[in-house]
Amino acid sequence: MSDFDAIVLGAGGAGLMCAAIAGQAGKRVLVIDHAASPGAKILISGGGRCNFTNIGAVPDRYLSANPHFARSAMGRYTPADFIGLVEKHGIAYHEKTLGQLFCDGSARAILAMLLDEAEAGGVEMALGDAVREIDHGDGTYRVTVGNREVRAPALVIATGGPSIPKLGATDFAYGLARRFGMSVVEPRPALVPLTLAGDQLLFRELAGVAADVVARCGKAAFREAALFTHRGLSGPAILQVSSYWRHGESIGIDFLPQAGPGWAQAAKRARPKLSMKGLLAGMLPERLADTLAARIDLWGDLQTMSDKMLSNVEAKLADWRFLPNGSEGFAKAEVTVGGISTDGLSSRTMEAKRTPGLYAIGEAVDVTGWLGGYNFQWAWASGWAAGTAI
Ligand code: FDA
Repeated sequence: MSDFDAIVLGAGGAGLMCAAIAGQAGKRVLVIDHAASPGAKILISGGGRCNFTNIGAVPDRYLSANPHFARSAMGRYTPADFIGLVEKHGIAYHEKTLGQLFCDGSARAILAMLLDEAEAGGVEMALGDAVREIDHGDGTYRVTVGNREVRAPALVIATGGPSIPKLGATDFAYGLARRFGMSVVEPRPALVPLTLAGDQLLFRELAGVAADVVARCGKAAFREAALFTHRGLSGPAILQVSSYWRHGESIGIDFLPQAGPGWAQAAKRARPKLSMKGLLAGMLPERLADTLAARIDLWGDLQTMSDKMLSNVEAKLADWRFLPNGSEGFAKAEVTVGGISTDGLSSRTMEAKRTPGLYAIGEAVDVTGWLGGYNFQWAWASGWAAGTAI
């Protein structure tokens, strides 16, 4: 005889959604978390206002070794479904930019909503104690937490990824998945600032300067703000490309995405006595214009520069190459790229193909969204898919 129908490990967005859905379908559910209180990442997300979804959350905005994996869950639990829940709870929200929906008030409202939904499903919570042991046999999972052993025919891995350990994040999910014969796609920090070294550190003098750019890494390109920091590069455009970046690769920045082709030659004809620094200062933040002009190293009036030189300047500013020497790592990464391989999971139910009753959801799985509400939408959708299947 089992104590519960399902034990969910992890009281983050994915685990709470899964527990609430299963509980409301009449299942007896226990959620276990080693943290003393649930939803730590929800509370700090979106600068405290939780960017809880993105109205453009389509599967091709997710990274995974299997880009098709997210389609099923994302197609069945959509941003509109989550918005419906938010509205049912009377939570006011707004679109900030690029389809990103934020609470007007505090992220606490989203956590309270999930806890209310879990309570409506009679979900039990065991918080503040570490999982000491997990056994599996005869179709039953036995979990020892604190001094208590609990049993259920279903076990859900919802313990997230290792990004931001000081919030209680661990790589527990990966060890557990491997124990049950599943593989793990190399986890890497993602949505993370990149660091610069060597002569590129000269850009440190620009710490605090932001500009609207297009940042590129391989085929990925994002037009958003980039920010220079004391250690390197940050801001939404850089965080986005960081998920695609690998050691040894360069990233390209178009500092003037708004400028049409031939802008430098046109400026030479219109204002021949202008300097390169003066020209750039009219198009970019002043400190950035000064630094780039110094590095371009063309002095005198524009009229002294050949058209060829000016088209080289255009090309350089459209694809300025930075070679990061690393990132700020899991300590600063908003999410983890990689995780439990989708090869071993059903995309419809999130159940392990070879271990009946074992499920993996949320950030623990090798599905990672862009910046902007995409990762929570995956947590809700994958949690919903498992919650309805249990
Ligand atoms: P999550 O990490 O939320 O939950 C896992 C739970 O498991 C935690 O409660 C943890 O304590 C518990 N746990 C871990 N190890 C355990 C163990 N060994 N035993 C028991 N329990 C264990 N996304 C987005 O879409 N919009 C946004 O605005 C933001 N903002 C944001 C800001 C910051 C600073 C960060 C770090 C991240 C974001 N994100 C985001 C990403 C988003 O927070 C993330 O994708 C989801 O929280 C993932 O939800 P999960 O439930 O999968 O894991």
